[in-house]
Amino acid sequence: MSVLVLGSTGLLGQALMKEAACRGIKANGVARTNADICLDISDVNRLEKIIKEDKPEIIINAVAMTSLDECEKYPDKAYITNARPVAILADLCISCKIYFVQISTDHYYTGDGSDKHGEHCPVRFVNEYARTKYIAEIFALGCRNSLVVRTNIVGFRKKAGQPTFLEWVLASLQNNSQMTLFEDFYTSSIDVGHFSEALFDLIPQRLSGVLNIASSEVANKRQFIEKLAFRLGYSLKNTQNGSVCSLKNVARAESLGLDVRKAEAFLGYRLPTLDQVIDRLVLEYRGN
Ligand SMILES: NC(=O)c1ccc[n+]([C@@H]2O[C@H](COP(=O)([O-])OP(=O)(O)OC[C@H]3O[C@@H](n4cnc5c(N)ncnc54)[C@H](OP(=O)(O)O)[C@@H]3O)[C@@H](O)[C@H]2O)c1
Repeated sequence: MSVLVLGSTGLLGQALMKEAACRGIKANGVARTNADICLDISDVNRLEKIIKEDKPEIIINAVAMTSLDECEKYPDKAYITNARPVAILADLCISCKIYFVQISTDHYYTGDGSDKHGEHCPVRFVNEYARTKYIAEIFALGCRNSLVVRTNIVGFRKKAGQPTFLEWVLASLQNNSQMTLFEDFYTSSIDVGHFSEALFDLIPQRLSGVLNIASSEVANKRQFIEKLAFRLGYSLKNTQNGSVCSLKNVARAESLGLDVRKAEAFLGYRLPTLDQVIDRLVLEYRGN
């Protein structure tokens, strides 16, 4: 089996590359810098050339402009990064008989608290990020041999100046910095290690359509941070409760819980609970 991982140097891409290596799967990584193949995915002519040369059996697209602020400020750039290349990828996957996995988002649900959203729940677009990611889903699904995976991931990116949510929380706990804990922002966050294991377990089944891969439990950000701090023995004295509505710059979806029963049925095992996600993150943190 050979895999081309687009976005191989990102939070998720690094974990996908590691999981492929653990399984002895040949994987090439693509990103603009520091990857096996350096490419700006918006250069669709070169993208096509690279895929025809590399001839992978599977493409996993984890490239995205993930900053909500940047997507809002530069909607055209968000479209040519998040959406348009996926149309080209879908065409190529049809003509070259490649199995295509498009990594998508959970950023489609708002106003229903901790509810879990199945793959067929109605979606809403509150910002450009969500809009461009959904257009990408539609493009990807134009290829019958494709799987769109909706998720919410946590982990370590290990890139100076670009901390992930987890890295920001850990730094704030270590430095005892002031933190606002949102009680009305719900996610089914899964660590990228568990996510990658589940995805590679599913790939041999060549599923198509939309599938949620996430934690089996929904938690708000306060619960997530409390559990993490408790496990690491940090104090939460310097924190206050808050609402995600206080973030005024970009509109955000906040009821991001995902129902993962469909994925669990295909996997034949349960996806991790919040405690299991925290355990894995703590292990990785201590390993670092
Ligand atoms: N992080 C989250 O909380 C979250 C939640 C739900 C879903 N997701 C989805 O999960 C996927 C992975 O997200 P992530 O957090 O791992 O993203 P990330 O850490 O920002 O990584 C993005 C990757 O894409 C590459 N990239 C960005 N722009 C590119 C371009 N124009 N051409 C080529 N490569 C480019 C980056 O490397 P270079 O910058 O060097 O090019 C990097 O390898 C995305 O589809 C995202 O929408 C993320």
